[in-house]
Amino acid sequence: MRRILFLMFAALVMCASQVMADTLKISVIGAGNVGGTLGTLWTKAGHSVMFSSRHPEELADLVKRAGANARAGSVTDAAAWGDVIVLSVPYGAMPVLSEQLKGKLGGKVVFSTSNPFSGRDGDVGSKALEMGAALADQQYLPGVHLVRAFNAVGYASMKDESGKGKAIPVFADDAQAKDLGARLVRDAGFLPVIFPLARANEGLPRGPLSGLWNEAELKGRLAP
Ligand SMILES: NC(=O)c1ccc[n+]([C@@H]2O[C@H](COP(=O)([O-])OP(=O)(O)OC[C@H]3O[C@@H](n4cnc5c(N)ncnc54)[C@H](OP(=O)(O)O)[C@@H]3O)[C@@H](O)[C@H]2O)c1
Repeated sequence: MRRILFLMFAALVMCASQVMADTLKISVIGAGNVGGTLGTLWTKAGHSVMFSSRHPEELADLVKRAGANARAGSVTDAAAWGDVIVLSVPYGAMPVLSEQLKGKLGGKVVFSTSNPFSGRDGDVGSKALEMGAALADQQYLPGVHLVRAFNAVGYASMKDESGKGKAIPVFADDAQAKDLGARLVRDAGFLPVIFPLARANEGLPRGPLSGLWNEAELKGRLAP
């Protein structure tokens, strides 16, 4: 009898640790339209999320809506807390964030939805477009495992679920970034198709990979 009880206990512990392993701590820096929406989808998928911005005291309503797995914190808190850091800010914020996050993200996966635009982001946006968004990200955040996704998905279609089940390009090079990036995209309800980081500009709004929601069609664009 004791042996059976022990085996049942061991099985329970194994299940619990599997659940733990399946649950991520996701820090969302930039908790606006996109960051707030994705973070909420991820809490509903069972992950724990810390929302942050320059004004974390203004994020109480978002935290409440996202549920028990959500909290708010400063940018520095978020950088230290998450297993993965989601960056969802206007690209013009990158130089400031680069300084603020210096030495704090080394080795972590950074998942960016942040798009450079010349109009909105001025010189910072123009330079990033010219060199390529992924290369610019890596210059601002050296040493991270970078993944870029959701760059041409309107936040409204994430929120009202009209995009659910559609394929989107996910730009990453190393295994950790590919795995975690694909997982976060799936847990938000979309199908990931992995492309190399060098092609990240193609996934920007109005880029040649934007608006291709069909998995087979998107995969067909994998050949350079
Ligand atoms: N809107 C879309 O449908 C969509 C779709 C795909 C990709 N994108 C891209 O995703 C990014 C976010 O877009 P969004 O529409 O979610 O923008 P948004 O609603 O304006 O949200 C931006 C967030 O970034 C925060 N922020 C700004 N500067 C910051 C800084 N220096 N440090 C920390 N947080 C900062 C803002 O909060 P505080 O001002 O309180 O700091 C706010 O929470 C953009 O690059 C956008 O081009 C947008």
